[in-house]
Amino acid sequence: MQILSDIAELRTTLRQLRSGSERATHRSVGFVPTMGALHAGHRSLVQAARQRCDIVVASIFVNPTQFAPHEDFSRYPRTLAEDCQMLEAEGVDVVFTPTAEAMYPPGASTFVEVEGVSDRLDGASRPGHFRGVATVVAKLFHIVQPGLAFFGQKDAAQVAVLRKMVRDLDFPLEIIVCPTVREPDGLAMSSRNRYLSAVERRQALTLSRALHAAEIQVTRGEHRASALLQTVRATLQEEPAIRVDYIAAVDPDTLLPIENVASGALLAVAAYVGTTRLIDNVLLAAATGNTVVPGKKKS
Ligand code: PAJ
Repeated sequence: MQILSDIAELRTTLRQLRSGSERATHRSVGFVPTMGALHAGHRSLVQAARQRCDIVVASIFVNPTQFAPHEDFSRYPRTLAEDCQMLEAEGVDVVFTPTAEAMYPPGASTFVEVEGVSDRLDGASRPGHFRGVATVVAKLFHIVQPGLAFFGQKDAAQVAVLRKMVRDLDFPLEIIVCPTVREPDGLAMSSRNRYLSAVERRQALTLSRALHAAEIQVTRGEHRASALLQTVRATLQEEPAIRVDYIAAVDPDTLLPIENVASGALLAVAAYVGTTRLIDNVLLAAATGNTVVPGKKKS
């Protein structure tokens, strides 16, 4: 496994790997962008890329432009040695670890703004966040030029923003979204879970419990978003240490609110446990079977 931080060197290496043998002139490149502090969620993306692509590239870059000044950029966990061990064990070919100076040379003033969708959910709570994400991911796509790029459903709003960016700017690649990997007790894996004390770790479980309660309600035929949101809110309120940021039932592509989840929906929460902001979501599938949905013809 090669670990490269220089953009030009990475490009040369990938050019050589792509045309590895005389016959294989079109070796596919799968790309997994990360900010490091890797866990089993990241590992699942790498494994998906390894299964589907000839060459797997992962990046580790704690991107300063997606953090607001008061956020956790400086204390974000940096565990490069362990991260590289994990990536090597999973058969990654190249790890790209650029410096902030290489990604944002002095005077850099070009940004990618995905209007509308970037202002919803986490974008509403973290103004400018998705501008930073879209900019760095666009740059990484240009540098790595993957055919497939792998992202986690855990960051559902990020997926919506990046899918739109890829469509709007005609990036020649496909975004593959992998399911959220959870701890055995249901907590969605996150690099930020390291910030939680033992007590907060237990309190944090309320997020997945709340979403699960709503999911069960859906299987029993409840499709009104208002009722599901109320269930999530009530469950979160059972844990006084939790401060809700948002609870939303939205269209997974536009992130606009929907009133009825019968055609599918993204049910998403963000909440503070102590000072740590956590997010989680579930994708509700479109209703099937013979359930009669008010206002819809039975099919
Ligand atoms: P990071 O938080 O390191 O996440 C990297 C990728 O791992 C993202 O696609 C994220 O959705 C995915 N991921 C995180 N936790 C997951 C889990 N529990 N299950 C499945 N996938 C999970 O997201 C970012 O970094 C950055 O915004 C980035 C895209 C790298 C741009 O800087």
